[in-house]
Amino acid sequence: MSIGQPTTRYEAPIKVTGSALYAADNYPDHLLHGVIVASPVAAGTLKNIDTARAEATPGVVRILKRADMPPLGEIGMPAAVTHMPLTTDEILWEGQPVAIVLGETLEAAEEVAALVRVEVDTVSAATPGHGQLERPENGFAPAHDIKGDVVGGLDRAEMTVSEQYYQPTRNHNPMETSATVASWDGDSLTLWDASQMSLNPLAVMKAAFGLSQDKVRVISPHTGGGFGVKGYVWPHLILAAAAAKVADRPVKIQLSRAQQYGQTGHQPECRQKVTLGAMADGTLVAMRHEAINTTSIKDTQFEQSATATRTYYACPAIELDQYVERINLIQSTPMRAPVEGPGSWALESAMDELAIKLDMDPLDLRLRNFAEVDPFDGKPWSSNKLREAYAEAAEIFGWRRRAQMPRRDGVWALGRGMSMASTFCARFPGQALVRIQADGQVYVEASANDIGTGNQTVFQLVAAEALGTEPDRVKVRWGDTRYPPAGPVYGSSQTIGTGGAVRLAALDARARLEAFGAPGTGPIDLGAVMRASGEAEIVGKGKFDFGDAPMSFNGSGTPYAMQSWGANFVEVAVDRDLGLIRLRRVVARYSAGRIINPLTARSQMIGSIIWEWGKATMEASRVDHRHARFLAKNLSNVAVPVNADIPHDAIDVGFIEEFDEHAGPTGARGIGELGGTGVAAAIANAVYDAVGVRVREVPILPAHILDALG
Ligand code: MOS
Repeated sequence: MSIGQPTTRYEAPIKVTGSALYAADNYPDHLLHGVIVASPVAAGTLKNIDTARAEATPGVVRILKRADMPPLGEIGMPAAVTHMPLTTDEILWEGQPVAIVLGETLEAAEEVAALVRVEVDTVSAATPGHGQLERPENGFAPAHDIKGDVVGGLDRAEMTVSEQYYQPTRNHNPMETSATVASWDGDSLTLWDASQMSLNPLAVMKAAFGLSQDKVRVISPHTGGGFGVKGYVWPHLILAAAAAKVADRPVKIQLSRAQQYGQTGHQPECRQKVTLGAMADGTLVAMRHEAINTTSIKDTQFEQSATATRTYYACPAIELDQYVERINLIQSTPMRAPVEGPGSWALESAMDELAIKLDMDPLDLRLRNFAEVDPFDGKPWSSNKLREAYAEAAEIFGWRRRAQMPRRDGVWALGRGMSMASTFCARFPGQALVRIQADGQVYVEASANDIGTGNQTVFQLVAAEALGTEPDRVKVRWGDTRYPPAGPVYGSSQTIGTGGAVRLAALDARARLEAFGAPGTGPIDLGAVMRASGEAEIVGKGKFDFGDAPMSFNGSGTPYAMQSWGANFVEVAVDRDLGLIRLRRVVARYSAGRIINPLTARSQMIGSIIWEWGKATMEASRVDHRHARFLAKNLSNVAVPVNADIPHDAIDVGFIEEFDEHAGPTGARGIGELGGTGVAAAIANAVYDAVGVRVREVPILPAHILDALG
């Protein structure tokens, strides 16, 4: 058990024995159950809430409306929604909360909520494709950005591709729906929340209720999936805390699966156009990437899909041109592999189309345009082993021998496609403590959340290596804002940020041990050193940060550009008569810095590839344009991949040996969301290879195949 060895999860025993507590598992004394009553229409003005029948029902304690709400302070990011429900009569989306029923039991509150009648003066609602376009300003780079002479480049190009690529709104569908329990003790607030970043609810509660930092505590040790939807703060958290304040009792709000669709975010619809100009030998001379993503009426999520084209390929002329479109749905939000996830779907499809037009191997086209430095600003990469990833994955897949591979298997036509994977490197500040007890036992403390990716094991391995001790000597305390502030479990950033802080804390503790005769490097007997020291405890502090900057994106503030990379090779089978598509195999290799725990790292990448299978062939949250609402809000009508969709041993992932000394103290870069880039395009490229049908819309459905084949 050490860094680089497959290590089972630190928190596995408490999860498999059922003793790990998730947010909704908490039942403080005198708890009330809150059920949100929502607007049934997407746009208008709230006219009346009729509670006459509801109030006569036993078990209901109270029904809170706008007039019952305490005054709230101004909120902004990390609150996803600033159009705060129950503080206004303006309705902007179907599902917008208009009242909260508080009951002694969940059943009573749900029954009563169903009896409340909501009347809205309706106006027409904007749906995807019909909203106002706006240039967003809240990205990592300007929405419109250009380098070089794109028009001239396209003019000079010997071959061009210019196509549009579509992806629909999609929901995150974590197994655990969002849940919050709020409890006040005087003017102190405790929240148990299903969160990807406990410091976000803490910041929003401070602003909404005018509290100082020490008056809010967020406890969030386990989160049952999030994929981005539990990153920012949604209105139900504020409503739970407000209701608890008004009722003077703790309040729990757990969203139902259907409510999750109306009261938390989704991935926006993305419409993209990619224009590529190349010389006959495949050298890119101009690239233009246009993108529009939907967002809500008042708050702006800028998906930044075109950012993929900033970093993927060397090219003298690049233009990015991006808009958001305002519609009447709950605010959209990042979803597993934001930015390059949608962006690579378009770009990596277009690159395949260009390769086919040039009669070039798509792998050779990518190697021809390999970016030796950051294409946009010329900075050197902190580390980049993409070439090695291409070579190893291609060899294992047999890419260069594919002409000799069978084209059919019974009724199935077989096809192979490839793509590049790459995602941004987000580095968030984090702090950690390493405490060495008198008996040599070590505790790592950081407020970090656990979303199942294996953080705690990473902290354990990193601390043990730096201290020169065995990982099983290290225990981890996490998931509580009483511990030092740690970075988020989003943006594939936890190992770099909090992992980096843990390493720095362990090195600090180790330096303190040197005063008692311990060696500065190599293994040490912590128990013996502590006995010799006579100290009850030695505490090391670690802080990973970027001065005053809230974060570093792709190496901002450093001389280096930072990305994670990979190569995807996919084989699919397509039934020409039924239009069915089946996954046969995937080989992917990644360049992502040092891999701390190959066991959980492998799981992350397999999960992301399956996630992309869902995006490419199954998932969509379709919007009913007549009513501006999702057609289906449950897992029986929204398809997501299940085990039966993924053949046993079909996915082969691995990492190129690498240590990125610039990205952070652990040598690691981000991995999780990297696996969610490029794969959907590789699948579409493989479908084209199988049956000659180019589908520029995900999910690729049987109808696309059958319509094209006639
Ligand atoms: Mo991911 S959208 O950064 O949780």
